[in-house]
Amino acid sequence: MVVRLAVIGGSGLYDLRDLKGAKSRAIETPFGAPSSPVRVGRIGEVEVAFLARHGVGHVIPPHRVNHRANLWALRELGVRQVVGTSSVGSLKRDLRPGMLAVPHDFLSLWDLPTFHDDKVVHVTPTLDEPMRAAIASTAKAHGARVRSRAVYAQTRGPRLETKAEIRLLRDYADVVGMTMASEATLAAEIGVAYASLCTVDNFAHGIADRPLAYADIVSAQKSTASRVGRLIGPLVAALSTKSGRI
Ligand code: HPA
Repeated sequence: MVVRLAVIGGSGLYDLRDLKGAKSRAIETPFGAPSSPVRVGRIGEVEVAFLARHGVGHVIPPHRVNHRANLWALRELGVRQVVGTSSVGSLKRDLRPGMLAVPHDFLSLWDLPTFHDDKVVHVTPTLDEPMRAAIASTAKAHGARVRSRAVYAQTRGPRLETKAEIRLLRDYADVVGMTMASEATLAAEIGVAYASLCTVDNFAHGIADRPLAYADIVSAQKSTASRVGRLIGPLVAALSTKSGRI
């Protein structure tokens, strides 16, 4: 079975309610095992693979996610398009928790994973534009408040950022998270189209007057992730037609 589309679920999204007849595939890669077995099933007419980025039960912290194994395993299945969902903090006061953001670009100055340790290869990383547009319009059509373009800044984690770090980032980016840029970079290296749907789960440290607590982020993730889970079905349908690749 060839699977063209995959979803990597971020914090709070550990399975897909619309994935029918799903079977787990344990895939070994030259980079080790992916974060979780890959669930392969069907959404409508489309074969879809699902991978929980932080493992089932959220056991893998962001700086220990084996992004190389995750992307490699999906490509092994034949995947050409990956949608990653990610929890983020907002760097802008008008981008409020509860909203969604669909990045068109990212910055990641410190975390640069690669498949090319032994070869001189320099890719130009990008997020897939037709996928971004399809994600943004589908989310809007389903009633979400969406920032259709956003710059994602990646920090390494696991700690949250200092206020000074956020002051530095806020002029150059809209949201901050710990994983998406690494995934997008590796996808570019293996020729897989990648786009991201971010749930804004908090204001980044110092953006709001109220102190930032990880417990608040986790409780927001629970409700935003289930809303994103409901969007995946329509999103798969839109991606398989509008972005025209599967
Ligand atoms: N910073 C980094 N990663 C995050 C945040 C944040 O404020 N919120 C959710 N993921």
